[in-house]
Amino acid sequence: MSKFARIIGTGSYLPPKVVTNDDLSKTIDTTNEWITTRTGIQERRIVENESTCDLAEIAAKNALEMAGINANELDLIILATTTPDKIFPATATMLQNALGANCPAFDLQSVCAGFIFALTTAEQYIKTGAASKVLVVGSETLSRIVNWKDRSTAVLFGDGAGAVVLEGSKETGILHSKLFSDGSYLSSLQVSNERINEVGFIEMAGNEVFKIAVNRLSTLAENTLKACNMTSEQLDWMVPHQANIRIISAVAKRIKMPMNKVIVTLPKHGNTSAASIPLALDIAVRDGRIQKGHNLLLEGIGGGFSWGSVLLKF
Ligand code: UT7
Repeated sequence: MSKFARIIGTGSYLPPKVVTNDDLSKTIDTTNEWITTRTGIQERRIVENESTCDLAEIAAKNALEMAGINANELDLIILATTTPDKIFPATATMLQNALGANCPAFDLQSVCAGFIFALTTAEQYIKTGAASKVLVVGSETLSRIVNWKDRSTAVLFGDGAGAVVLEGSKETGILHSKLFSDGSYLSSLQVSNERINEVGFIEMAGNEVFKIAVNRLSTLAENTLKACNMTSEQLDWMVPHQANIRIISAVAKRIKMPMNKVIVTLPKHGNTSAASIPLALDIAVRDGRIQKGHNLLLEGIGGGFSWGSVLLKF
């Protein structure tokens, strides 16, 4: 059995169509100034004809290429998504087929915490010896469930995908992971549907979610460091869920992490839910900021609420 689950490849993909804050201000009552100061978001990508599986496929292929393995070597695929292409089959099985893999594949739904939940699940498969090579993907086409007339949510979300390949290893990888859920906050952040056969749109009590996110994530970051007997000075990077720059800075401040050690990619893609952490991770790996041996703290929170963290050596 492997002692650690280690990331051996990362990948990401953003669809080509860019929608800027100025573009949105032509159709809803908002301004570039409001969106930038309140959220840090400058633009987002929106799919035209691509599906959640299409985005996932490109991100996954990039991660497999970096890992130097073929899809048919995978033992498991976990796809975290809130926007599956169909109710069934699982989008993960469509991805398995598109990649030419022949392993089990399933979707995991934990909204913006989906990637953390999927990574933690994959780690358990590896540590128990049930799998050796696992593809973990976060992919979203949130633009399909955004109410484009609602300025309080339309400015926040975007489409994209990120992926990692994990391998069982004697070398240090994931050191600690912790997941939480509190299902009593249903109405604070949900997709509303009046009838059971409707999909509905994202609805959020933004300010309430903001305060809970800062509170839960700050406590989680402190406890994660404590559990690993580490201080933030021993972290090379924090790779947070990319929802709002003010949430990210408040959590960084609480654990005394300078912002130049925090990966922030949300200006260019907004909140991509389950895709946001692996997207940020891949961008920073490919631009050379994150390097082998670096200590990373990943954390995120989303609807439910569900939240969690992973501390790992890259
Ligand atoms: O992924 C995990 C889940 N999501 C999040 O983490 C998001 C958490 N929440 C947030 O990021 C912030 O709460 C928002 C960015 C959504 C909102 O920022 P806020 O500072 O909490 O603003 P607010 O909701 O308290 O609204 C302030 C004002 C309101 O006007 P009044 O009542 O003060 O006159 C809103 O109507 O801003 C108004 N407003 C807007 N104005 C221009 C709300 N949305 C917009 C907009 N453009 N797009």
